[in-house]
Amino acid sequence: MTRHFLKDTDLTPAEQAEVLDLAVELKAAPYSRTPLAGPQTAAVIFDKTSTRTRVSFAAGIAALGGQPLIINPGEAQLGHKESIADTAQVMSRMVSTIIWRTYAQSGLEEMAEHSSVPVINSLSDDFHPCQILADLLTIREHRGDVKGQTMTYYGDGANNMANSYALGGVNAGMHVRIAAPEGFQPAAAIVAEAEALAIQTGGSLTVTDDPVAAATGADVLVTDTWVSMGQDSAGRDDEASPFTKFQVNQELINLGNDAIFLHCLPAYRGKEVTAEVIDGPASVVFDEAENRLHAQKALMTYLLER
Ligand code: CP
Ligand code: NVA
Repeated sequence: MTRHFLKDTDLTPAEQAEVLDLAVELKAAPYSRTPLAGPQTAAVIFDKTSTRTRVSFAAGIAALGGQPLIINPGEAQLGHKESIADTAQVMSRMVSTIIWRTYAQSGLEEMAEHSSVPVINSLSDDFHPCQILADLLTIREHRGDVKGQTMTYYGDGANNMANSYALGGVNAGMHVRIAAPEGFQPAAAIVAEAEALAIQTGGSLTVTDDPVAAATGADVLVTDTWVSMGQDSAGRDDEASPFTKFQVNQELINLGNDAIFLHCLPAYRGKEVTAEVIDGPASVVFDEAENRLHAQKALMTYLLER
């Protein structure tokens, strides 16, 4: 059966760990696996802009022996003249995998339903699961393991990154804390799913509006932009922004357990994080960016070799 990766929990805890093990292996020996040899083509479709996702998938597909086909916003019939179902059926006959950055999660689900090749979510309004795989790999490298580590996310607790940290982090057995203002906290469905998963993995999810308590003893502090792609910046980015209190600064880092700082990038210094933190000794954001390449190569290898 064709496997897809549309959200973090599409990999079981054991499968997620297996992908991370494979990522470590591929980072050490980058050309050791060639599931796309032929070369086969992998389509990478963008409805939103990107630097890391575009470059890491293009480079990763090439390193796996394949040929990336990058489709930029507005270039395909998809979204204008042709349905998702027809697009999926046409592309499935020509490419080995479909990687798609889009808006609605339901669009990805529809693509997967009609695709006979793996569909990978490279960011939707609801989830960014490829980023979380890279982040877990980075945490493993810097902290030795992911299971049992405490990770606090600051800012918009209802965006794609927050949802993926909640599910992907708990899937890995982490204690995830989401520090976010009221009105921007995770949806009840995400909390319920994470809590159910926590019973299985030994992880946990805590939601709070107290930034200081959330930093205390944390191993990892992480944040994201206050305005995600497709969102209106009004009420999010101005002086009265509800997120100001949740900016990651050196005081919060100092409350952690020799904490590392992560950010998916692009970052806005002086908004969600101070320059002192993101450019300082706790920051591992460029290891994290590099790990997009290794984690996604492992993910593609895993899905293609099923
Ligand atoms: N972190 C991330 O997905 O970056 P891009 O938007 O540049 O792809
Ligand atoms: N939450 C951000 C993540 C960017 C990688 C966005 O969706 O724009």
